[in-house]
Amino acid sequence: MRVLSGIQPTGNLHLGNYLGAIRNWVRMQDEMDADSQCFFFLADMHSITVHEGREQRIRNVRDMAAALVAAGIDPDRSVLFNQARVPAHAELCWLLNGTARIGWLNRMTQFKDKVGKDREGASIGLFVYPVLQAADILVYNATHVPVGEDQKQHLELARDIATKFNTDFGVELFTLPDPIIPRESARIMSFRDGTAKMSKSDPSDMSRINLTDDDDAIMQKVKKAKTDPEPLPETAEGLAGRPEANNLVGIYATLAGRTADAVCAEFAGKGFGAFKPALGELLVETLRPIRSRFMELRTDDAALDAILEKGAARASAAAEPTLRAAYDAMGLMR
Ligand code: TYM
Repeated sequence: MRVLSGIQPTGNLHLGNYLGAIRNWVRMQDEMDADSQCFFFLADMHSITVHEGREQRIRNVRDMAAALVAAGIDPDRSVLFNQARVPAHAELCWLLNGTARIGWLNRMTQFKDKVGKDREGASIGLFVYPVLQAADILVYNATHVPVGEDQKQHLELARDIATKFNTDFGVELFTLPDPIIPRESARIMSFRDGTAKMSKSDPSDMSRINLTDDDDAIMQKVKKAKTDPEPLPETAEGLAGRPEANNLVGIYATLAGRTADAVCAEFAGKGFGAFKPALGELLVETLRPIRSRFMELRTDDAALDAILEKGAARASAAAEPTLRAAYDAMGLMR
């Protein structure tokens, strides 16, 4: 089993990242047996699709590394690194650009969502972004990729690229990766709009819970979260057509390790005035220890750089055989 996943180091780690992906990373790392390996990385090469100044980008990478370690990624057991330190990702991306089709990329919903009406003004990087993501995965022959629901289409593309490359060059080089998507928290929604996903790029900070938010900020954001005037239903079925209520109950259930039905049963007939403080407490208790470890870790840049350098050396060694085989399959002498 080879587990791999990545996160863009833009802005803070938020509750959507944590519940949709990072918690699963930690669980898979902790349950790993001796024959398995976990690779987790900061997708800084992907982050060039968002304009950022030099100093801020450097800070973002170190902060996201600190956040992952604070959330439970152990750099001794997992290979933790930033993509820019491992050129194999960019090299394989270029090779796969010969395999990926424009028609496939045209169908990517994230690209369409991000560019909106200004397709002509979007960067090429944003368009080929999923090819780099495919390279990230295929260069390690990853078997399991823990991600939130929004990455499912990119994973399907990685499988299509792998299949076409193997067929075109008559090799069995790339392994087809399986997405690992959590059942309950695959799509955490915005606190301002239950139909939009919680995201770092939402201009309203009230829409998301950040790892850096203190206890008061968390309680405030929960209190102000958009809801409807109805009381909580007796079963989760009654949440249909109530996206905000469904989101908050889902978050509560995930954090408490219970089903949405059990949460509804407990709060049935009560309004959000009763539910929100309980949810706020649960969030505060979950995030407080992570935040305090994060605040401590982010003060030691040298230690964070050392972790990423060591991880990059291990990652480069793991990527090399597949990269070499890909050049060779294409008849490119290296
Ligand atoms: P990114 O940085 O947007 O998000 C990191 C992870 O968090 C998940 N996620 C969510 N899950 C549930 N609810 C939400 N509201 C929410 N928002 C984010 C994402 O699904 C993701 O798992 N393209 C990727 C990074 C990447 C990658 C890879 C992932 C680059 N190469 C290779 C896997 C394998 C991205 O931008 O994730």
